[in-house]
Amino acid sequence: MDERITSVTQNNEVAFEYSIRPSKIDEYIGQTEVKENIKVFIEAAKMREESLDHVLLYGPPGLGKTTLAHIIANEMENNIKTASGPTIEKSGDLAAILSSLEPGDVLFIDEIHRMPRYIEEILYPAMEDFSLDLIVGAEGNSRNIKIDLPPFTLIGATTRAGDLSSPLRDRFGIVSKLNYYNIDELFQIIKRTSKVLEINIEDDATLELAKRSRGTPRIANRLFKRVSDFALVMGNGNIDQKIINMALKRLKVDNLGLDGTDYELLNAIISKFNGGPVGIDAIASSIGEEVTTIEDVYEPYLLQIGFMKRTNRGRIATEKAYEHLKIESNDKLF
Ligand SMILES: Nc1ncnc2c1ncn2[C@@H]1O[C@H](COP(=O)(O)OP(=O)(O)OP(=O)(O)O)[C@@H](O)[C@H]1O
Ligand SMILES: [Mg+2]
Repeated sequence: MDERITSVTQNNEVAFEYSIRPSKIDEYIGQTEVKENIKVFIEAAKMREESLDHVLLYGPPGLGKTTLAHIIANEMENNIKTASGPTIEKSGDLAAILSSLEPGDVLFIDEIHRMPRYIEEILYPAMEDFSLDLIVGAEGNSRNIKIDLPPFTLIGATTRAGDLSSPLRDRFGIVSKLNYYNIDELFQIIKRTSKVLEINIEDDATLELAKRSRGTPRIANRLFKRVSDFALVMGNGNIDQKIINMALKRLKVDNLGLDGTDYELLNAIISKFNGGPVGIDAIASSIGEEVTTIEDVYEPYLLQIGFMKRTNRGRIATEKAYEHLKIESNDKLF
């Protein structure tokens, strides 16, 4: 299990996340384009008294896909049923979920790219015609039956839109990509969390935390929680810049939000592979991480801040990365 403080994979913080999750679309900070469009689609569906078209949400972990799915159901004033790609193991599992849907329900399938293709195929008629095509009876004596489903909205979430088969992708009427948040948006998210949890954080401290959150609300919230522990035990409970600097130094999160694994990764490219270009497999095995973890979690942010580039011959570390590593390693953070 990935236990880094800046890890974006969910562990036992489900209850914490639930407690600070916005439930109305207007409380959902940032992602303006996505949000404004979805508002229009929701309003139109309501005016037509129809279910909302199927929605695919994609983007790096921790950016608010699950949150947005719940908000959509809430704004449509409908119930949400949730499932996750890897836990749907048999076609019967999916058939059971689909046949339990009530009119207007939202069915949220997380990690939808991890559903096996033969199961995925059950979704095609369900999404297109609200019908469930089943094969019943024993071999040699089987027949097809068609069951009508009520109108429903499928919301799929994935960190890897590229892994979705095109027949599945094409059946989503609304496809939205979530992007990393800017500092100002993260500032607002941290302030909101501070209000919900009733823990005070000063403005300059909020800004500092926002800068170190890798553009990711989940990381901002998690850092907030850890920093508030330091403030409580080592200060007076109030979070100021001094507490932030001290806490993040202890948590080994640098001034850009990079942590030990980012350093290992960049150092590997720079020292072991002469700055690249180097293939992702070679990087992964040299630092003992999974290729998919690097691709989904570390790399997108390093690309975003211009520390790494992808070329058709492999990954390279940029001048910016060299400079940052030199400065920070002199600082003895790692
Ligand atoms: N736009 C937002 N405004 C306020 N808080 C947000 C926003 N987006 C996400 N959050 C907060 O960040 C946390 C993580 O969001 P969420 O679980 O929705 O991410 P996700 O994209 O589903 O991640 P994963 O890919 O790992 O499933 C939630 O606790 C939520 O409170
Ligand atoms: Mg999620």
